[in-house]
Amino acid sequence: MKESEIRNTYNKKIKELKKHNKLYFEESSPKISDNEFDQIKKEILNLEKKFPYLKDTSSPSVSLGYTPSKNFIKTEHRVKMLSLSNAFDINDLENFQKKIFNYLNKKIEFEYSVEPKIDGISASLTYKNGLLVMGASRGDGTTGEVITENLKTISDIPQKISNKDFPKDIDIRGEVFIKKKDFSELKNDFANPRNAASGSLRQKNPEETKKIPLKFIAYTYGFFTNEKIKKQSEFLHSLKKWGFKTNEHNKVLKTIKSLENFHKKFENDRFDLEYDVDGLVYKIDSLELQKRLGFTANSPRWAIAHKFSADSGYSQITDINIQVGRTGALTPVARIKPLNIGGVVVSNATLHNEDEIIRKDIRLGDTVKVERAGDVIPHVVLVDLKKRKKNSKKFIFPKKCPCGFDTIKEFNKVTKKYDAVRRCPDRGFDCEKIAVEKIKHFISKEALNIDGLGKKVVEKFWDLKLIRFPQDIFNLDYKQISQLDGWGNLSVSNLKYSIDQSKKVSLDRFLYSLGIRHIGIENAKLLAEYTKSITNFLNFIQNKNLNEFLNIDGIGETQINSLKKFFENKSNYRIIEKLSSLLNISNLKINKGGKLLNNTFMFTGKLINMSRAEAKSLIEENSGSVVSSVNKKLKYLIIGEKPTIRKVQQAKQFGIKILSQKEWLNLLD
Ligand code: IVH
Repeated sequence: MKESEIRNTYNKKIKELKKHNKLYFEESSPKISDNEFDQIKKEILNLEKKFPYLKDTSSPSVSLGYTPSKNFIKTEHRVKMLSLSNAFDINDLENFQKKIFNYLNKKIEFEYSVEPKIDGISASLTYKNGLLVMGASRGDGTTGEVITENLKTISDIPQKISNKDFPKDIDIRGEVFIKKKDFSELKNDFANPRNAASGSLRQKNPEETKKIPLKFIAYTYGFFTNEKIKKQSEFLHSLKKWGFKTNEHNKVLKTIKSLENFHKKFENDRFDLEYDVDGLVYKIDSLELQKRLGFTANSPRWAIAHKFSADSGYSQITDINIQVGRTGALTPVARIKPLNIGGVVVSNATLHNEDEIIRKDIRLGDTVKVERAGDVIPHVVLVDLKKRKKNSKKFIFPKKCPCGFDTIKEFNKVTKKYDAVRRCPDRGFDCEKIAVEKIKHFISKEALNIDGLGKKVVEKFWDLKLIRFPQDIFNLDYKQISQLDGWGNLSVSNLKYSIDQSKKVSLDRFLYSLGIRHIGIENAKLLAEYTKSITNFLNFIQNKNLNEFLNIDGIGETQINSLKKFFENKSNYRIIEKLSSLLNISNLKINKGGKLLNNTFMFTGKLINMSRAEAKSLIEENSGSVVSSVNKKLKYLIIGEKPTIRKVQQAKQFGIKILSQKEWLNLLD
């Protein structure tokens, strides 16, 4: 067969698969049997095996091929299911520990609970009075899918626990996975064991889930009113006592050196395990210390995943494309001849930025080593110079953005160096490439969370000129959309529903959704807490009062400059005005129960055994707020060691109450 014929056959199969996927999962009216459906998938996978250049995002080797969120009832997790930050080497581990010491403002000794990180799908099980009442998938971490019946088919999951010690109301969390040997029988249907676990766990029909031998290992809790258990390792023992399976390789270690040694040994031993493990998880063992350290936006400060080294392979660069990100950063991406790395076909690898290309002297046609670890984007590690063609030329990084604007390299005042990244200057929505990315950001999970409108759909609607600005999303022509290929009545009404749902949004999410550089989730929250409502926020902008945001602890010049630059562009302001009339932007919910409500604090001098960040969290947890300059609005100035005399004098002039660290902590009991 000619290549074009092969591609044709393949594309036809993909189209068929998509059609039946939709019929089954979205419209709940399958037209073929499960066996016939599996047959199509098998044929696609076989073609890909024979002809590795074949690839489609809807292939079962890439996507799980369904949209489960529409099939299951959703549930909001009582306690968020967060992810872990990653460490790849001892440097990262030392940094992790250093950050902990900084946060506590003290070097202390502690132990780690060390647990293998099984590569599966996490699940949360709610038990009330010893009975399994609900099981949910992780979903986006805040909201999961109710998959109780499917989880009940897993024999490792107890449905009734009579142990006297078992808490009356608790969420048990752990990993659902499939053993390597069981996967070998399914390998024609799924790309890897993780996909197999995920696919079967989210089957519509629990009878289908039952056919696949899924396992469950428990490792943590979500909601839990714990009074007795003091350590993570103790909790793991309790889990075992209550009837859950826990990992037999869990252990407690103390020093970074011992973590490193264990990691080295385990990295080799893991191949003898019955299941796939992609790293080790280190958690601070003391639960009290965990509580003190708390969380950043997405992950706990008290835990980290130490990944095993990446899988890699060699392939040839066929092209280098420049991608433009939401903030205008130009990222070079190498298109490579398809390469199978650890069961996943890779055909793109990032080259990071212009400086990296220069440093590694990466050229078109080069044979390169590509690495891939877990969910991390594959990247080019090095060039195999022996294979370089004689006539190869240095790659010249374009000085213009694909939109036509000249690009710039910014000077970083802190490092006193030019950035490695070249950028298209962010002129609002003028650069088409940035504009699409901004819209993708606007609809993303942490922003407006419009799940019926994925990134691919945004691209399609953009190409069809259905959207140019975020506000266009709320004025879509649904009639026109229903005439597009692949848009049935059900998917159009789903889209309309999720867009309508997204109109109610909290101020912090809204500010984050604007995609202003340096205003991530955390900073958006700070701005929302300070301005309280969208009207106030817009007033600040209109009155050019942005410098007042310097009062917010955590907001500095970088953020202010970025806000100024963003609003210098009048069209950005108009977009926000439009959006604020279309949306229902709710003021930030203030925790009204706290002891420090309506009280403002400021610190000067070094605190004992506590960092500023921790002190700030403590105040905010109790509904107070922290400011960073002495003014009349300030109620208390808290002094640590070696305070700034000028601040203390100013406070005295204004009649602000001055507290020692001890007096302040007494306010909180
Ligand atoms: S703790 C906030 N412990 O890793 C605590 N996670 O990136 C997060 N995982 O979604 C979970 N083994 O699917 C924890 N012993 C273990 C784990 C583990 C595997 C997975 C889990 C989670 C992901 C975090």
